[in-house]
Amino acid sequence: MTSNRLTETIAAVSGGGSGIGEAVCLRFAAEGASVAVLDLNIDAAQRVAEQISTLGGTAEAYACDVSDQADVQKTFAGIGSTFGGLTVLINNAGTAHIGGLEQTTEADMDRVYSVNVKGVYHCLQAGIELLKQNQGGAIVNMGSIACTVGIPDRFAYSMSKGAVLAMTRSVACDYLNDNIRCNCISPARVHTPFVDKFLAENYPGQETEMLKKLSATQPVGRMGQPEEVASLAVYLASDESKFVTGANFEIDGGFNNLKP
Ligand SMILES: NC(=O)c1ccc[n+]([C@@H]2O[C@H](COP(=O)([O-])OP(=O)(O)OC[C@H]3O[C@@H](n4cnc5c(N)ncnc54)[C@H](O)[C@@H]3O)[C@@H](O)[C@H]2O)c1
Repeated sequence: MTSNRLTETIAAVSGGGSGIGEAVCLRFAAEGASVAVLDLNIDAAQRVAEQISTLGGTAEAYACDVSDQADVQKTFAGIGSTFGGLTVLINNAGTAHIGGLEQTTEADMDRVYSVNVKGVYHCLQAGIELLKQNQGGAIVNMGSIACTVGIPDRFAYSMSKGAVLAMTRSVACDYLNDNIRCNCISPARVHTPFVDKFLAENYPGQETEMLKKLSATQPVGRMGQPEEVASLAVYLASDESKFVTGANFEIDGGFNNLKP
């Protein structure tokens, strides 16, 4: 599905080597954007960038650990010189943790905070300079239903995604006059390698049964697809959403609002 909705767009996508980030990179390129694919896993980032190039698009892979401020600054300086600027930033890289308050160690808390909270802060800070030079742009942060709903055994993860929504609103407010919009996407369960890894690690031998159970959590009876999240990201990155900033978009198969 393409309609050239993102021509003139230069997008940086963190965690672009897998799952939702990968779908965003591929869809953005199909819509005409040039894409900087950032990932801790350079092989994954390169695979996505090569796929885009093979299809005739423009993409560059960057090895970047979002939890490392110096690494992020260096990466965004590279994007600025290679692409000649930045117009869209997608803060998608994230990590998970399963456990309630009493099962969450200080090390767990620090690890989740360093990727999901500081990682977003680092990319916002490095990206905002380039967006200001462009005299405007769009930022999309990947939240979760855990931004707004208490879900079992996600103490550290919920802490981090609540912070993502709060940072979204803070940035949206502070950059109104710079023509920079900032919004949050909050998916319920989306079927990605993130989910498969979670099942393999936490429910070995019961993956199929657990996949069914997790699918049933959404009132529509299934998980989301990464491409469905990418469609929303296209809207939020494009001028079609010029009147939208500081908002949180639930893409959740009815999870937040329906109790069938
Ligand atoms: N899949 C879901 O059900 C779901 C639901 C709600 C929100 N989310 C959020 O969506 C985002 C993407 O999730 P996904 O399911 O596509 O995950 P995924 O595991 O498939 O992909 C995440 C990517 O981020 C990269 N990454 C991890 N740590 C990084 C770091 N420090 N620096 C740079 N890259 C790093 C990984 O290498 C991987 O390529 C995450 O922020 C996640 O919290 C996912």
